Amino acid sequence: MTPPNSAASPLTAVPLHGRPDAARTTRRVTVVVPTYNERRNVTALLRKLRAALGGLSWRVIFVDDDSRDGTARLARKHAVRDPAIQCLQRIGRRGLAGAVIEGVLASPDRYVAVIDGDLQHDERLIPAMLARIQAEDADVVIASRFLDAAAPVEGLSPLRLAGSRLATRLGRRALKARVTDPMSGFFLVRRDLVEAVAPRLSTEGFKVLFDIIASAQRPLRIIEMPYRFGDRAAGQSKMDRRVVLDYLGLLTAKLSNDLISPRLAGFLAVGATGVFIHLGVLRALLSVGFTQAQFIAAATAMTTNYLLNNSLTYRDRRKQGLALLTGYLAFCLACSLGLAANVGVASLVRAHGEVWWGAGLAGAAVGALWNYVCASLAVWRK
Ligand code: GDD
Ligand code: MN
Repeated sequence: MTPPNSAASPLTAVPLHGRPDAARTTRRVTVVVPTYNERRNVTALLRKLRAALGGLSWRVIFVDDDSRDGTARLARKHAVRDPAIQCLQRIGRRGLAGAVIEGVLASPDRYVAVIDGDLQHDERLIPAMLARIQAEDADVVIASRFLDAAAPVEGLSPLRLAGSRLATRLGRRALKARVTDPMSGFFLVRRDLVEAVAPRLSTEGFKVLFDIIASAQRPLRIIEMPYRFGDRAAGQSKMDRRVVLDYLGLLTAKLSNDLISPRLAGFLAVGATGVFIHLGVLRALLSVGFTQAQFIAAATAMTTNYLLNNSLTYRDRRKQGLALLTGYLAFCLACSLGLAANVGVASLVRAHGEVWWGAGLAGAAVGALWNYVCASLAVWRK
């Protein structure tokens, strides 16, 4: 058996001393690179990996979500010349976490490094990460942006830096481990650990490392190593508001011991906005008469809830075009009972002399429960 890079890559012309087979297996690593529109960075990343991993037997797996810029095509072009390069092209799917999980599980190696494809991470750290995970028989090595408090973090805007720090602080509560950078996208992990927790991992969002650590069923041996997070080389970040929402959903799930799924958390959050909208409309229309106002308020909140859930909570099953309309009608139809219960309960409570907002809230709570059951079972069913 030849090591993967031996033929095509000059870097694996490594003299293997002593027992060659043992040396080969212990110095073997897979590098997983999730990519979405990173064509302009692929070649440079491979060049850098070759330079950095010279002493190791390594392979790289790009996991590309069918980028329109031709990232996968270029990765395959490299793969023709170097069998140690592979590309997993996923069709009709998006999600950094899911891409990372699939890449890790596709590796035959005991250790897998995960690194961004935009050159923001310092690939030169990988050999040292591998050496330490082996020497200390650890589960995870995190390349931390924050371990070296004195070092500047270049690749983040002040807002993102503050957000990342806050997310880290919140996340630490959900983790059984003390780490400075559980949100890092750059880490090295034992594949069997990911295998064990894979069924419990969320495939949405960016926080796959956090999820792996939080989902482990035993305390992990985690090592952190400092590095400097650089600026993105080309293209732009795919981090957006949804990624933040994904994280909040994941955090809720982990803090509730997986009692509240990220989806339910999303649904409840959307529901909370619905409550505000509901009460706002109710307040504005009180002069029309309480029952009518409550009805209109509930209908308005239902509509905004539908749209928000469609673009956030159920965005993996998102409806577009005609389906958006029929889905809305189905949602209205299915929830009309809930609406009746909502108005009925609110009117009843109001008639008992409760203040307008207390009555409105009681009605909305009943309605929200209905909406959730209907949404999961009927409207956005798989
Ligand atoms: N396959 C796939 N699918 N890859 C994706 C997707 C996706 O949906 N979204 C992003 N990527 C790839 C990008 O192409 C890049 O290689 C890497 O994942 C990181 O994406 P960026 O868009 O560059 O993320 P970032 O720089 O804003 O965020 C980095 O820092 C975060 C912490 O602040 C990443 O390292 C995150 O993992 C990390 O949590
Ligand atoms: Mn980036």
